[in-house]
Amino acid sequence: MIIYGDLPKPSPGPNECLIDVSAVDVNPIDTYIRSGAIPSNIQCPYIIGRDLAGTVVEVGSQVKKFKPGARVWVTGQGVGSRQGTFSEFAVVAEEWIHPTPDGVRDEDMVAVSLVGITAHLGLVMHAKLRANEILFVNCGSGGVGSCVVQIGKALGAKVITTAGSDAKVEACRKLGADLAINYKTEDVVAAIRNFAPKGVNVWWETLREPDFERTIPLLAMRGRMIVMAGRDAKPVFPVGPFYVKDCSLHGFAMFNATSEEQRIAAEDINGWMQSGKLTAQIDRIMPLSQAAEAHRLQEESTIHKKGTLAGKIVLITEKL
Ligand SMILES: NC(=O)c1ccc[n+]([C@@H]2O[C@H](COP(=O)([O-])OP(=O)(O)OC[C@H]3O[C@@H](n4cnc5c(N)ncnc54)[C@H](OP(=O)(O)O)[C@@H]3O)[C@@H](O)[C@H]2O)c1
Repeated sequence: MIIYGDLPKPSPGPNECLIDVSAVDVNPIDTYIRSGAIPSNIQCPYIIGRDLAGTVVEVGSQVKKFKPGARVWVTGQGVGSRQGTFSEFAVVAEEWIHPTPDGVRDEDMVAVSLVGITAHLGLVMHAKLRANEILFVNCGSGGVGSCVVQIGKALGAKVITTAGSDAKVEACRKLGADLAINYKTEDVVAAIRNFAPKGVNVWWETLREPDFERTIPLLAMRGRMIVMAGRDAKPVFPVGPFYVKDCSLHGFAMFNATSEEQRIAAEDINGWMQSGKLTAQIDRIMPLSQAAEAHRLQEESTIHKKGTLAGKIVLITEKL
């Protein structure tokens, strides 16, 4: 159960900043942690949430990079000894804090935080996407997928994606997708073969039930496949057609990335946010007091596959 109420204001330790939080967002993993679907080492009372954007108001004695007044964003909180972000004030260790570029709103910055870092880690560190390669991403209208489409384009790839309605397909085209396919009404395999006769160089799977029997024949020689969802999935894996093309499979979870790996991704994300190459996809903005309803909506859309959301849910803190 999510309870909206008062806890004492936290104080920063020597390497921490106290941040006046203005915006947070919801990720599917927030609902898995809250519901217990992922057993997590958390302290109670547990503050939900991974990401925040806001302003530094106080710094610990060893903090070097930030001063009071600095606009910042953060992802990857709410695990282990770190409390979550759905609060008026949060303390965060300096290593996880990134500056917010001038001219970028807190609502937009928080909406790309976790999903943007995830897309960057997958494309750059794991799949090593190169310019002019063909990238396919399932779910270009999703939180992760919309960042994969845009970052793929920023890296110079040709991007194919899928979405579940004509309106979402059109939104994917606006994000820069070279080919956007309505997976409910079109033949996805035929459309990919037509666009990429030599195969897809990087296949990004966001579905929680990856279909290797469909995907592997569509991979190019030395194709790379990313899997990053579906903890309980046990799909059939055709080994022969995979290894004879020198293909590789890359699984990753963004929360395993070190703060330095995340910082490298955050620098690029900040540059793309400022130049407009990366834009936030926000479905709706709600007050923080509606956190429980926000979780219900995210579960309905992602876990129960209703596809009701077209972008992130962002919540704005109310000063009590
Ligand atoms: N490993 C990691 O580090 C990491 C990081 C972030 C997220 N994740 C996981 O990645 C998954 C996606 O996260 P997200 O934040 O992008 O979720 P999301 O915003 O809910 O996006 C998922 C999208 O999938 C689309 N979809 C559903 N069925 C589809 C199908 N058969 N074909 C194509 N698209 C389909 C839906 O859009 P339509 O309405 O268009 O169908 C939905 O918007 C979640 O399971 C999440 O837990 C993992």
